[in-house]
Amino acid sequence: MAAPGASRKISAASARAHTRKKQKSSSFPVIRGIVSKLSVVLLVGVVAWLYNAARPPPPNICGTPNGPPVTSPRIKLNDGRHLSYIETGVSKEKARYKVIFIHGFDCCKHDVFPVSQEILDEFGIYLLSFDRAGYGESDPNPKLSVKSIAEDVEELADKMALGSKFYLMGFSMGGAYVWSCLKYIPHRLAGAGLVSPGSNYWWPSFPKNLSSDAYRSRLAQDQWAIRVAHYAPSLTYWWNTQKWFRPLSVIAASTNILSDKDRELLPKILARKQYQAQVRQQGEFYSLHRDLIVAYCSWEFDPMDLKNPFPDSKGSVHLWHGSQDQAVNVSLSRYISQKLPWVQYHEVPDGGHFFPHADGMSDTIVKALVLGDQ
Ligand SMILES: *[C@@H]1O[C@H](CO)[C@@H](O)[C@H](O)[C@H]1NC(C)=O
Ligand SMILES: *[C@@H]1O[C@H](CO)[C@@H](O)[C@H](O)[C@H]1NC(C)=O
Repeated sequence: MAAPGASRKISAASARAHTRKKQKSSSFPVIRGIVSKLSVVLLVGVVAWLYNAARPPPPNICGTPNGPPVTSPRIKLNDGRHLSYIETGVSKEKARYKVIFIHGFDCCKHDVFPVSQEILDEFGIYLLSFDRAGYGESDPNPKLSVKSIAEDVEELADKMALGSKFYLMGFSMGGAYVWSCLKYIPHRLAGAGLVSPGSNYWWPSFPKNLSSDAYRSRLAQDQWAIRVAHYAPSLTYWWNTQKWFRPLSVIAASTNILSDKDRELLPKILARKQYQAQVRQQGEFYSLHRDLIVAYCSWEFDPMDLKNPFPDSKGSVHLWHGSQDQAVNVSLSRYISQKLPWVQYHEVPDGGHFFPHADGMSDTIVKALVLGDQ
Protein backbone atom coordinates (compact mmCIF):
# COMPACT_ATOMS: atom_id res chain seq x y z
CA MET A 1 0.00 0.00 0.00
CA ALA A 2 2.85 2.25 0.94
CA ALA A 3 4.36 1.71 -2.38
CA PRO A 4 1.38 2.65 -4.47
CA GLY A 5 0.61 5.57 -2.06
CA ALA A 6 4.20 6.69 -2.36
CA SER A 7 4.07 6.19 -5.97
CA ARG A 8 0.85 8.17 -6.15
CA LYS A 9 2.43 10.86 -3.97
CA ILE A 10 5.45 10.90 -6.14
CA SER A 11 3.42 10.94 -9.20
CA ALA A 12 1.22 13.71 -7.80
CA ALA A 13 4.29 15.73 -6.86
CA SER A 14 5.90 15.06 -10.14
CA ALA A 15 2.62 15.89 -11.78
CA ARG A 16 2.51 19.22 -9.94
CA ALA A 17 6.14 19.78 -10.77
CA HIS A 18 5.38 18.89 -14.29
CA THR A 19 2.43 21.27 -14.31
CA ARG A 20 4.57 24.04 -12.79
CA LYS A 21 7.28 23.34 -15.29
CA LYS A 22 4.69 23.27 -17.97
CA GLN A 23 3.25 26.56 -16.80
CA LYS A 24 6.72 28.10 -16.60
CA SER A 25 7.81 26.73 -19.89
CA SER A 26 4.53 27.60 -21.50
CA SER A 27 4.69 31.33 -20.62
CA PHE A 28 8.39 32.13 -21.23
CA PRO A 29 8.72 30.66 -24.69
CA VAL A 30 5.63 32.61 -25.66
CA ILE A 31 7.27 35.82 -24.51
CA ARG A 32 10.55 34.77 -26.02
CA GLY A 33 8.73 33.91 -29.20
CA ILE A 34 7.04 37.30 -29.27
CA VAL A 35 10.33 39.06 -28.58
CA SER A 36 12.17 37.16 -31.26
CA LYS A 37 9.33 37.68 -33.72
CA LEU A 38 9.33 41.36 -32.88
CA SER A 39 13.07 41.62 -33.35
CA VAL A 40 12.84 39.86 -36.68
CA VAL A 41 10.10 42.29 -37.71
CA LEU A 42 12.20 45.18 -36.42
CA LEU A 43 15.30 43.91 -38.21
CA VAL A 44 13.38 43.42 -41.44
CA GLY A 45 11.97 46.92 -40.98
CA VAL A 46 15.40 48.44 -40.44
CA VAL A 47 16.88 46.55 -43.37
CA ALA A 48 13.96 47.55 -45.61
CA TRP A 49 14.24 51.15 -44.48
CA LEU A 50 18.02 51.17 -44.99
CA TYR A 51 17.60 49.47 -48.35
CA ASN A 52 15.21 52.19 -49.42
CA ALA A 53 17.32 54.98 -47.93
CA ALA A 54 20.46 53.54 -49.54
CA ARG A 55 18.89 53.24 -52.97
CA PRO A 56 19.60 56.29 -55.09
CA PRO A 57 16.83 57.78 -57.24
CA PRO A 58 17.26 57.17 -61.00
CA PRO A 59 19.60 59.53 -62.84
CA ASN A 60 18.34 62.66 -64.52
CA ILE A 61 20.02 61.99 -67.85
CA CYS A 62 21.11 64.94 -70.00
CA GLY A 63 19.30 65.34 -73.26
CA THR A 64 16.26 63.23 -72.24
CA PRO A 65 12.81 64.94 -72.32
CA ASN A 66 12.85 65.86 -68.61
CA GLY A 67 16.61 65.95 -68.23
CA PRO A 68 19.01 68.90 -68.34
CA PRO A 69 19.83 70.26 -71.80
CA VAL A 70 22.94 69.36 -73.77
CA THR A 71 24.93 72.56 -74.26
CA SER A 72 28.33 71.24 -75.43
CA PRO A 73 29.40 68.87 -78.18
CA ARG A 74 29.49 65.18 -77.26
CA ILE A 75 31.00 62.01 -78.67
CA LYS A 76 29.20 58.70 -78.55
CA LEU A 77 31.17 55.81 -77.05
CA ASN A 78 30.92 52.25 -78.35
CA ASP A 79 28.66 51.26 -75.43
CA GLY A 80 26.22 54.05 -76.34
CA ARG A 81 27.18 56.54 -73.61
CA HIS A 82 27.98 60.13 -74.50
CA LEU A 83 30.96 62.12 -73.29
CA SER A 84 30.73 65.91 -73.35
CA TYR A 85 33.79 68.05 -74.02
CA ILE A 86 35.17 71.55 -74.62
CA GLU A 87 38.22 72.48 -76.65
CA THR A 88 40.57 75.40 -76.10
CA GLY A 89 43.93 76.49 -77.45
CA VAL A 90 44.95 76.10 -81.08
CA SER A 91 43.00 73.86 -83.46
CA LYS A 92 43.96 70.22 -83.31
CA GLU A 93 45.08 70.31 -86.95
CA LYS A 94 47.67 72.97 -86.15
CA ALA A 95 48.60 71.72 -82.70
CA ARG A 96 52.09 70.57 -81.81
CA TYR A 97 50.86 69.24 -78.48
CA LYS A 98 47.46 67.71 -77.76
CA VAL A 99 46.57 67.62 -74.09
CA ILE A 100 43.56 65.96 -72.42
CA PHE A 101 42.53 67.27 -69.02
CA ILE A 102 40.90 65.03 -66.38
CA HIS A 103 38.92 66.99 -63.80
CA GLY A 104 38.67 66.23 -60.09
CA PHE A 105 35.92 65.19 -57.70
CA ASP A 106 32.77 67.33 -57.77
CA CYS A 107 34.07 69.20 -60.83
CA CYS A 108 33.40 69.21 -64.56
CA LYS A 109 35.01 69.98 -67.91
CA HIS A 110 34.88 73.73 -67.22
CA ASP A 111 37.32 73.24 -64.33
CA VAL A 112 40.16 72.85 -66.82
CA PHE A 113 43.30 74.71 -65.64
CA PRO A 114 43.34 78.39 -66.62
CA VAL A 115 46.27 78.13 -69.06
CA SER A 116 46.88 81.52 -70.71
CA GLN A 117 46.09 82.05 -74.39
CA GLU A 118 49.68 83.25 -74.93
CA ILE A 119 51.14 79.95 -73.76
CA LEU A 120 48.61 77.92 -75.73
CA ASP A 121 49.47 79.91 -78.87
CA GLU A 122 53.21 80.09 -78.32
CA PHE A 123 53.58 76.35 -77.79
CA GLY A 124 50.82 75.27 -80.15
CA ILE A 125 48.75 73.49 -77.51
CA TYR A 126 45.32 72.02 -78.11
CA LEU A 127 43.54 71.44 -74.80
CA LEU A 128 40.59 69.05 -74.55
CA SER A 129 38.57 68.83 -71.35
CA PHE A 130 35.68 66.43 -70.85
CA ASP A 131 33.03 65.63 -68.27
CA ARG A 132 33.89 62.34 -66.63
CA ALA A 133 31.08 59.76 -66.78
CA GLY A 134 28.11 60.88 -64.66
CA TYR A 135 29.33 64.47 -64.30
CA GLY A 136 27.98 67.49 -66.19
CA GLU A 137 26.65 66.40 -69.55
CA SER A 138 28.29 62.98 -69.82
CA ASP A 139 26.10 59.91 -69.34
CA PRO A 140 26.57 57.95 -66.12
CA ASN A 141 28.44 54.66 -66.40
CA PRO A 142 26.81 51.85 -64.38
CA LYS A 143 30.10 49.96 -64.76
CA LEU A 144 32.33 52.83 -63.64
CA SER A 145 35.72 51.50 -62.55
CA VAL A 146 39.36 52.44 -62.23
CA LYS A 147 39.88 50.88 -65.65
CA SER A 148 36.77 52.25 -67.38
CA ILE A 149 37.98 55.80 -66.80
CA ALA A 150 41.21 55.07 -68.71
CA GLU A 151 39.18 53.40 -71.46
CA ASP A 152 36.95 56.46 -71.74
CA VAL A 153 40.04 58.66 -72.18
CA GLU A 154 41.39 56.43 -74.93
CA GLU A 155 38.08 56.25 -76.77
CA LEU A 156 37.60 59.99 -76.47
CA ALA A 157 41.05 60.56 -78.01
CA ASP A 158 40.22 58.20 -80.87
CA LYS A 159 36.77 59.63 -81.56
CA MET A 160 38.35 63.09 -81.54
CA ALA A 161 41.08 61.84 -83.91
CA LEU A 162 43.95 63.03 -81.72
CA GLY A 163 46.37 60.56 -83.28
CA SER A 164 48.40 57.78 -81.72
CA LYS A 165 49.69 59.77 -78.74
CA PHE A 166 48.53 62.61 -76.53
CA TYR A 167 49.41 64.29 -73.24
CA LEU A 168 47.39 63.89 -70.10
CA MET A 169 46.91 66.24 -67.19
CA GLY A 170 44.76 65.35 -64.18
CA PHE A 171 43.83 67.35 -61.12
CA SER A 172 43.03 65.97 -57.65
CA MET A 173 40.95 62.81 -58.06
CA GLY A 174 41.49 63.26 -61.81
CA GLY A 175 45.20 62.96 -60.99
CA ALA A 176 44.56 59.61 -59.35
CA TYR A 177 42.98 58.41 -62.60
CA VAL A 178 46.11 59.44 -64.51
CA TRP A 179 47.64 56.39 -62.76
CA SER A 180 44.86 54.31 -64.40
CA CYS A 181 45.89 55.64 -67.80
CA LEU A 182 49.58 54.96 -67.05
CA LYS A 183 48.55 51.41 -66.19
CA TYR A 184 46.10 50.62 -68.99
CA ILE A 185 46.97 52.89 -71.93
CA PRO A 186 50.67 53.86 -71.48
CA HIS A 187 51.34 53.30 -75.20
CA ARG A 188 48.92 56.14 -76.01
CA LEU A 189 50.62 58.72 -73.83
CA ALA A 190 53.22 61.27 -74.86
CA GLY A 191 53.52 62.55 -71.30
CA ALA A 192 51.47 62.86 -68.14
CA GLY A 193 51.04 65.30 -65.30
CA LEU A 194 49.39 64.60 -61.93
CA VAL A 195 48.49 67.74 -60.04
CA SER A 196 47.49 67.64 -56.34
CA PRO A 197 46.62 64.00 -57.05
CA GLY A 198 44.41 62.02 -54.72
CA SER A 199 45.90 58.84 -53.31
CA ASN A 200 44.13 55.72 -52.15
CA TYR A 201 45.03 54.87 -48.53
CA TRP A 202 44.75 51.16 -49.34
CA TRP A 203 47.45 51.04 -52.03
CA PRO A 204 49.56 48.25 -50.55
CA SER A 205 52.94 49.94 -51.11
CA PHE A 206 52.20 52.71 -48.62
CA PRO A 207 53.69 51.96 -45.19
CA LYS A 208 50.77 51.56 -42.79
CA ASN A 209 51.89 54.38 -40.52
CA LEU A 210 52.23 56.78 -43.46
CA SER A 211 48.80 56.17 -44.95
CA SER A 212 47.07 56.15 -41.56
CA ASP A 213 48.75 59.45 -40.57
CA ALA A 214 47.70 61.04 -43.86
CA TYR A 215 44.22 59.63 -43.45
CA ARG A 216 43.91 60.96 -39.92
CA SER A 217 45.05 64.41 -41.03
CA ARG A 218 41.72 64.67 -42.88
CA LEU A 219 38.57 66.05 -41.34
CA ALA A 220 36.76 63.43 -39.23
CA GLN A 221 33.68 63.67 -41.45
CA ASP A 222 35.81 62.93 -44.53
CA GLN A 223 37.45 59.97 -42.83
CA TRP A 224 33.99 58.54 -42.21
CA ALA A 225 32.75 59.14 -45.76
CA ILE A 226 35.87 57.46 -47.16
CA ARG A 227 35.57 54.58 -44.69
CA VAL A 228 31.98 53.96 -45.79
CA ALA A 229 32.93 54.17 -49.49
CA HIS A 230 35.70 51.61 -48.94
CA TYR A 231 34.11 49.14 -46.52
CA ALA A 232 30.39 49.51 -47.26
CA PRO A 233 30.17 51.04 -50.75
CA SER A 234 26.47 50.17 -51.05
CA LEU A 235 25.76 52.56 -48.17
CA THR A 236 27.57 55.48 -49.81
CA TYR A 237 24.42 57.13 -51.12
CA TRP A 238 22.69 56.84 -47.75
CA TRP A 239 25.71 58.04 -45.78
CA ASN A 240 26.12 61.19 -47.84
CA THR A 241 22.42 62.06 -47.88
CA GLN A 242 21.35 61.21 -44.30
CA LYS A 243 20.97 64.02 -41.82
CA TRP A 244 22.47 62.65 -38.57
CA PHE A 245 26.16 62.59 -39.47
CA ARG A 246 28.03 65.02 -41.62
CA PRO A 247 28.80 63.80 -45.16
CA LEU A 248 32.03 64.31 -47.09
CA SER A 249 32.95 67.97 -46.63
CA VAL A 250 33.17 68.67 -50.37
CA ILE A 251 29.69 67.24 -50.88
CA ALA A 252 28.40 69.53 -48.13
CA ALA A 253 30.15 72.43 -49.91
CA SER A 254 32.21 73.05 -46.79
CA THR A 255 35.34 75.19 -47.14
CA ASN A 256 37.10 73.47 -44.23
CA ILE A 257 39.57 71.75 -46.51
CA LEU A 258 40.90 75.03 -47.88
CA SER A 259 44.33 76.06 -46.63
CA ASP A 260 45.19 79.75 -46.09
CA LYS A 261 46.79 79.82 -49.54
CA ASP A 262 43.66 78.32 -51.06
CA ARG A 263 41.54 80.97 -49.36
CA GLU A 264 43.58 83.67 -51.11
CA LEU A 265 42.55 82.04 -54.38
CA LEU A 266 38.88 81.88 -53.43
CA PRO A 267 37.78 84.72 -55.74
CA LYS A 268 39.16 82.75 -58.69
CA ILE A 269 37.76 79.45 -57.46
CA LEU A 270 34.35 81.04 -56.95
CA ALA A 271 34.19 81.87 -60.66
CA ARG A 272 32.97 78.26 -60.85
CA LYS A 273 29.56 79.48 -59.70
CA GLN A 274 28.62 80.09 -63.35
CA TYR A 275 28.64 76.41 -64.17
CA GLN A 276 28.62 74.73 -60.77
CA ALA A 277 24.99 73.64 -61.10
CA GLN A 278 25.98 71.47 -64.08
CA VAL A 279 28.39 69.34 -62.08
CA ARG A 280 25.82 67.22 -60.18
CA GLN A 281 22.78 67.86 -62.34
CA GLN A 282 22.29 64.18 -63.24
CA GLY A 283 22.25 63.11 -59.61
CA GLU A 284 24.78 63.04 -56.78
CA PHE A 285 24.98 59.28 -56.82
CA TYR A 286 25.92 59.17 -60.52
CA SER A 287 28.47 61.96 -60.27
CA LEU A 288 29.89 62.10 -56.75
CA HIS A 289 29.15 58.85 -54.96
CA ARG A 290 30.23 56.49 -57.72
CA ASP A 291 33.41 58.52 -58.09
CA LEU A 292 34.06 58.21 -54.36
CA ILE A 293 33.46 54.45 -54.40
CA VAL A 294 35.83 53.90 -57.32
CA ALA A 295 38.53 56.19 -55.96
CA TYR A 296 38.58 54.47 -52.56
CA CYS A 297 37.81 50.87 -53.49
CA SER A 298 40.59 48.28 -53.42
CA TRP A 299 42.34 49.02 -56.68
CA GLU A 300 43.28 46.11 -58.92
CA PHE A 301 46.81 47.51 -59.17
CA ASP A 302 49.16 49.62 -57.11
CA PRO A 303 50.55 52.70 -58.89
CA MET A 304 53.83 52.22 -57.05
CA ASP A 305 54.30 48.93 -58.93
CA LEU A 306 54.12 50.65 -62.32
CA LYS A 307 57.15 50.54 -64.61
CA ASN A 308 58.51 53.63 -66.31
CA PRO A 309 56.16 54.17 -69.28
CA PHE A 310 58.88 56.14 -71.08
CA PRO A 311 62.09 54.11 -70.73
CA ASP A 312 63.43 55.72 -73.90
CA SER A 313 62.87 59.21 -72.37
CA LYS A 314 60.42 60.10 -75.16
CA GLY A 315 58.01 61.50 -72.62
CA SER A 316 57.90 62.25 -68.93
CA VAL A 317 55.61 61.98 -65.94
CA HIS A 318 55.29 64.93 -63.57
CA LEU A 319 53.75 65.06 -60.14
CA TRP A 320 52.92 68.40 -58.56
CA HIS A 321 51.80 68.84 -54.98
CA GLY A 322 51.45 71.82 -52.65
CA SER A 323 53.09 71.34 -49.26
CA GLN A 324 50.09 72.97 -47.53
CA ASP A 325 47.44 70.89 -49.27
CA GLN A 326 44.75 70.14 -46.69
CA ALA A 327 42.51 68.16 -49.00
CA VAL A 328 45.15 65.59 -49.96
CA ASN A 329 48.18 65.34 -47.67
CA VAL A 330 51.46 65.91 -49.52
CA SER A 331 53.17 63.07 -47.61
CA LEU A 332 51.67 60.42 -49.90
CA SER A 333 52.86 62.15 -53.08
CA ARG A 334 56.32 62.54 -51.52
CA TYR A 335 56.44 58.85 -50.82
CA ILE A 336 55.28 57.93 -54.34
CA SER A 337 57.96 60.15 -55.86
CA GLN A 338 60.61 58.33 -53.80
CA LYS A 339 59.30 54.95 -54.88
CA LEU A 340 59.09 55.92 -58.56
CA PRO A 341 62.32 57.67 -59.59
CA TRP A 342 60.99 58.18 -63.12
CA VAL A 343 58.35 60.57 -61.79
CA GLN A 344 59.53 64.19 -61.81
CA TYR A 345 58.35 65.58 -58.52
CA HIS A 346 57.58 69.27 -58.02
CA GLU A 347 56.61 70.27 -54.51
CA VAL A 348 55.12 73.74 -54.36
CA PRO A 349 56.19 75.49 -51.14
CA ASP A 350 53.16 77.01 -49.40
CA GLY A 351 50.92 75.66 -52.16
CA GLY A 352 47.43 74.51 -51.19
CA HIS A 353 45.21 72.07 -53.05
CA PHE A 354 44.16 74.71 -55.58
CA PHE A 355 47.62 76.15 -56.31
CA PRO A 356 47.18 75.75 -60.13
CA HIS A 357 44.84 78.75 -59.88
CA ALA A 358 47.62 80.99 -58.57
CA ASP A 359 48.99 83.44 -61.13
CA GLY A 360 51.06 81.72 -63.80
CA MET A 361 51.00 78.27 -62.16
CA SER A 362 48.88 76.59 -64.82
CA ASP A 363 51.23 77.91 -67.50
CA THR A 364 54.21 76.53 -65.61
CA ILE A 365 52.55 73.14 -65.26
CA VAL A 366 51.57 72.77 -68.91
CA LYS A 367 55.00 73.98 -70.10
CA ALA A 368 56.76 71.38 -67.94
CA LEU A 369 54.40 68.74 -69.23
CA VAL A 370 54.98 69.36 -72.94
CA LEU A 371 58.68 70.31 -72.72
CA GLY A 372 59.29 67.37 -70.43
CA ASP A 373 62.56 68.56 -68.95
CA GLN A 374 61.68 71.19 -66.39
C1 LIG B 1 56.82 54.80 -40.42
O1 LIG B 1 57.65 53.78 -39.88
C2 LIG B 1 58.96 53.71 -40.44
C3 LIG B 1 59.73 52.57 -39.82
O2 LIG B 1 58.89 51.56 -39.41
C4 LIG B 1 59.71 55.02 -40.19
O3 LIG B 1 60.97 54.98 -40.80
C5 LIG B 1 58.89 56.18 -40.77
O4 LIG B 1 59.51 57.40 -40.45
C6 LIG B 1 57.48 56.16 -40.24
N1 LIG B 1 56.71 57.19 -40.97
C7 LIG B 1 55.84 58.00 -40.41
C8 LIG B 1 55.16 58.97 -41.30
O5 LIG B 1 55.61 57.96 -39.21
C1 LIG C 1 49.94 65.91 -43.32
O1 LIG C 1 50.00 64.85 -42.41
C2 LIG C 1 50.93 65.01 -41.39
C3 LIG C 1 50.93 63.76 -40.57
O2 LIG C 1 51.37 62.70 -41.33
C4 LIG C 1 50.60 66.23 -40.57
O3 LIG C 1 51.60 66.44 -39.58
C5 LIG C 1 50.53 67.45 -41.48
O4 LIG C 1 50.11 68.56 -40.75
C6 LIG C 1 49.57 67.20 -42.61
N1 LIG C 1 49.63 68.32 -43.53
C7 LIG C 1 48.59 69.12 -43.77
C8 LIG C 1 48.83 70.28 -44.66
O5 LIG C 1 47.49 68.91 -43.29
